Amino acid sequence: MKIVIIGAQWGDEGKGKIVDYLANEAQIIVRFSGGANAGHTIVIDNEEYALHLIPAGILYPDKLVVLGAGMVIDPMALFSELSMLNKRGIETTGRVFISDRAHIVLPRYIEIDKERDAARKIPIGTTGRGIGITYSMKSKRDGIRLADLSWKERMDELEEADHEFLAPYLDQLLTMTIDMASFIQHRKNAQTLFEGAQGALLDLDLGTYPYVSSGMSSASGAALGGCVGPRALDKILGVFKAYTTRVGNGPFPSEFNASSEDELCGFIRKTGREFGVTTGRPRRCGYLDLVALRYACFTNSIDALVMTHLDVYDTLSEIKACVAYRIGDKMVEDFPSSVQALNTARPVLRSFPGWKQSLADRLTYEEFPLEAMEYIEFIERFCETPIHIVSVGYERKATIIRKSPWRQ
Ligand code: GDP
Ligand code: IMO
Ligand code: MG
Repeated sequence: MKIVIIGAQWGDEGKGKIVDYLANEAQIIVRFSGGANAGHTIVIDNEEYALHLIPAGILYPDKLVVLGAGMVIDPMALFSELSMLNKRGIETTGRVFISDRAHIVLPRYIEIDKERDAARKIPIGTTGRGIGITYSMKSKRDGIRLADLSWKERMDELEEADHEFLAPYLDQLLTMTIDMASFIQHRKNAQTLFEGAQGALLDLDLGTYPYVSSGMSSASGAALGGCVGPRALDKILGVFKAYTTRVGNGPFPSEFNASSEDELCGFIRKTGREFGVTTGRPRRCGYLDLVALRYACFTNSIDALVMTHLDVYDTLSEIKACVAYRIGDKMVEDFPSSVQALNTARPVLRSFPGWKQSLADRLTYEEFPLEAMEYIEFIERFCETPIHIVSVGYERKATIIRKSPWRQ
């Protein structure tokens, strides 16, 4: 079975935690898009791991992990991540493979990314990891792929500084490089997870362009970045937070109002530990945006949702979610493509009673308080998509499975 896991908001939904949890039953975990802009956190018995390039399945000793064709890979970041894992007792030799079609991030792309974003009138607020520049080199047909490292004529086109940068990594990179299309085809019956990075609303095509990343972070990206056709993918899961966060600039209609909801914002940021894994920036916070979430469900054919961070709301007596936008004098229920429209959108909020008790010790959904069930089931109806997994804490074990995606 092939299961895709994507972020259904603007990233940082808890994909790392959920992929790690579901990887227990997988044999292969493929990251299909993005690069070291991602930061996926996994917490097991108080041990925290922050992964940027390596798929979350790496923490199990017996899983194979693949950095897919849709990724952009900075060799320096890759080897520093591998060394961090090795120092923490995780054996990676012979288990980490890289698609021959993945592109390489060069140091000069990182410099251009930072300069270019700083020069923008309204910066995107990129992670400064060279992501957009590497993807644009790819689109211009000027990029360097793993497969090109042994193609002399192509390599001769690089600058001296590029060669100096790549030289210490070349041998190791070549031993990890695979013909990913054959690798996946030869293991077509393996239980495979396709781990997304970023989120549907940061996708280059479906997201809030130009305030997006440059990869294909939506479900369709799993097919291309995983070297399979869309019909090979059996299920698509979308991970979302019980509220909404965003790092960097760009529209965010349900964002907490700095003057009237500052206290709530501070509470969520503190309780949910809302600081970026890659850059340490405080995340912007807001109400759950159901207009945006429903858009993500429809445009990604999400079969089931995974709700995370529900525990963050444990102590509140009232919870609100955005169910429509007011744009000018119109009520809008479909997610607009225009950034201008999104920037002027005011959230229409619906209120729900809080449950005012800890969810941390619940083992099944049936043990949830009625108020929490009401919130969850409203979201299911609104998005026309079931919620099959609920996460009530950052620990691996704080996960409630209503229906396992591995079962029919
Ligand atoms: P990703 O990029 O989607 O993998 O998410 P990040 O790792 O960037 O951010 C999610 C953060 O929330 C991490 O610090 C996780 O440890 C944490 N987290 C994940 N699920 C939950 C949850 O259900 N409750 C709480 N309180 N924290 C969670
Ligand atoms: P994970 O996988 C949250 C955001 C950046 C910026 C925009 C473009 O951890 O969910 P880029 O460096 O990609 O060109 O930046 O996208 N961004 C993320 N935000 N989570 C991520 O990844 C992100 N990756 C990029 O903050 O606004
Ligand atoms: Mg993250």
